Amino acid sequence: MTSHDDRFVHYLRAKESVDDRALHRPTLASLIDRLEARAESRSGQPLRVVSVGAGTGAMCRRLLSWGVFDAYDEIKYVMVDRKRGMADHAAAAFAKWARAAGWTAEPTPDGFRIERHGRSVSLTYVTSDLFEAMTVLPKAIDLVVAHAVLDVLPLRRAVDALLSRLTDGGLFYAPITFDGRTAFRPSHPADEAVLGAYHETMCGGERAGPDTGSDLLSVLPDLGAPVVAAGGSDWVVHPPHDDEARIFLDRVLGFVEESVGKSAAVDRETLDGWLEARHDDLAGDELAYVAHNLDVLAELD
Ligand SMILES: C[S@@+](CC[C@H](N)C(=O)[O-])C[C@H]1O[C@@H](n2cnc3c(N)ncnc32)[C@H](O)[C@@H]1O
Repeated sequence: MTSHDDRFVHYLRAKESVDDRALHRPTLASLIDRLEARAESRSGQPLRVVSVGAGTGAMCRRLLSWGVFDAYDEIKYVMVDRKRGMADHAAAAFAKWARAAGWTAEPTPDGFRIERHGRSVSLTYVTSDLFEAMTVLPKAIDLVVAHAVLDVLPLRRAVDALLSRLTDGGLFYAPITFDGRTAFRPSHPADEAVLGAYHETMCGGERAGPDTGSDLLSVLPDLGAPVVAAGGSDWVVHPPHDDEARIFLDRVLGFVEESVGKSAAVDRETLDGWLEARHDDLAGDELAYVAHNLDVLAELD
């Protein structure tokens, strides 16, 4: 991994507590209810989960810690991410977390298995583009998790590929899906130009773009999976900041710099002035940041 990738991994770690606060609890509660009903109707069968764009596996650890899979004694959880080296970061994060949470862990040929109080979870990490991974995975998945990733993918094609691997009544959970609004405070005269350009850069190529959360609400039913729960999961980060929040905000400013810096929509002087002001706000513990996201849960017809 490059130092750029290391910074991304630090960002993902810092993002965990921001996501913890943001996740839409009623949608999560609906996921738990549906998993419980599924466990009852398919007694004795394991829960099979695939998480795409899994990063270091934060969502898997969170769902286990929060008891979302408690209706199941056996869970098979496959994580897919195309970034090389991410699997090692995930393994390190899982080892640390499993030790602290009292799970025993033993390596398996393609990941590891953790056990606690008679429950076992097999964790597998696949380094691959998700479209390739979906062609080899059997059509035997109960739950797909697409956490903070759909906005960088061709939406219809990705949702179609993911739904194609679900069993009857399978669930599709897309938490922290970006949905079109970024704001920083205190306000700055170049906010509209810089943040407008930032959202424009999300539209290039096949990317689903800045309105992915809202778009999901029609794409999922169109493709045969009506939405059963959804709600806002906005990131709201305000001073005073701890170290994690500072790392998180510094990287968000880095994303704006890298993307808007390559676009012609804002001249370099305006962008540099805006960035300098934002880094000063951050250093002075004055920067507030809001990003609007949606959590969406759908169930295959
Ligand atoms: C913003 S990160 C989110 C990671 C993780 N879900 C989290 O929120 O902690 C998006 C991840 O999706 C991965 N990704 C993007 N496009 C992908 C693709 N086509 N196939 C597999 N992974 C992809 C990236 O490598 C990155 O790790």
